[in-house]
Amino acid sequence: MDVTIPEGGFWPAPEIPRPNIYPMEWRVETAKLAEIYEKSKRMVWNPADLPWDSLRAEDFTVEQRLGIMYWFSVLANFDASGPAVFARATIQAFEKHEEDPVRKCFFSITRDEMNHEECCQRTIARLWPGGPLNWEPATDLERAAHNNIGWLYHNGGRYWLAYNRAVGKYTLPVLFTSFMMGELAASTLFRGMASGTTHPVFSEMFHRIGRDESRHLQICMTILDVEWPGLTDETRELITRQLRAGFVFLSMILWEPPEGFWEIPPYFLPNHRILMNHAKQGGLGILSYEEQAENWRVAMARVRAIVERWGIAFPAIPELDIDGVEVGDIDPEDIIPVF
Ligand SMILES: [Fe+2]
Ligand SMILES: [Fe+2]
Repeated sequence: MDVTIPEGGFWPAPEIPRPNIYPMEWRVETAKLAEIYEKSKRMVWNPADLPWDSLRAEDFTVEQRLGIMYWFSVLANFDASGPAVFARATIQAFEKHEEDPVRKCFFSITRDEMNHEECCQRTIARLWPGGPLNWEPATDLERAAHNNIGWLYHNGGRYWLAYNRAVGKYTLPVLFTSFMMGELAASTLFRGMASGTTHPVFSEMFHRIGRDESRHLQICMTILDVEWPGLTDETRELITRQLRAGFVFLSMILWEPPEGFWEIPPYFLPNHRILMNHAKQGGLGILSYEEQAENWRVAMARVRAIVERWGIAFPAIPELDIDGVEVGDIDPEDIIPVF
């Protein structure tokens, strides 16, 4: 059977308006990213398989259970935003026709973050049914926890609105520098907590999540190695600001929230400390204020060494005695980092 060839030749299909996920294509430019994606598929794990039966509410005091629920609610402000944040970034990568391994790696991060979110969900369900917010506090400590979590998610909400505006606006290097900060923070946090916890469920959870976060960091670094050589001065300045924004945002879970950005009432931090201390007494593996600061400092030094190679100035972080460029106040629009 012969095909029909019109007189004068075929008619070209109309051009597809951009941004668009069509036409379909599977371009591979960075083989290393494709390799990391293969590895991510082989390393998939199931949070449901953790030894949950050994996490029993009756093994903790009420204050410890509340503290642990509180910590996972704080973690969820970051880790539970991961699936939605990276799902949106995945769609963006399709629409902008990034090479195939970039899209696939984004998808794999989305998948992993869903597991991390599930860990928050399952732990809270076992130790504090109704948590984070769907329960009635009965004591002052419980009221403090409930109120703090409400304020925390108010800030998470500001982050989400700003992220939606930012994700299409920023170029890949800017977006990925932020993601890189988030992943570095996450791998630092979980490595520390895996070594500090005394509970088998948390130990296995933190080891596995930490391994995922290291892989996410590897993905970011591989993409940045490709993107950074073409930076403009304007983008460099934007990245310096992003690094400071990353510190301000992520310190809530890694250390303590600094001034600027966070809209929290004056009693938030004292109550936060008390709740964190109860979680620590429960064996969660939270490091001391000084240990956390030192880990953060080491992580920042790593970021600094990396970005300075590409002529990107590092921001001043006086909270950790790190000198650098002054970038002024941080707005919600500046905040991109996730876990
Ligand atoms: Fe991550
Ligand atoms: Fe995560």
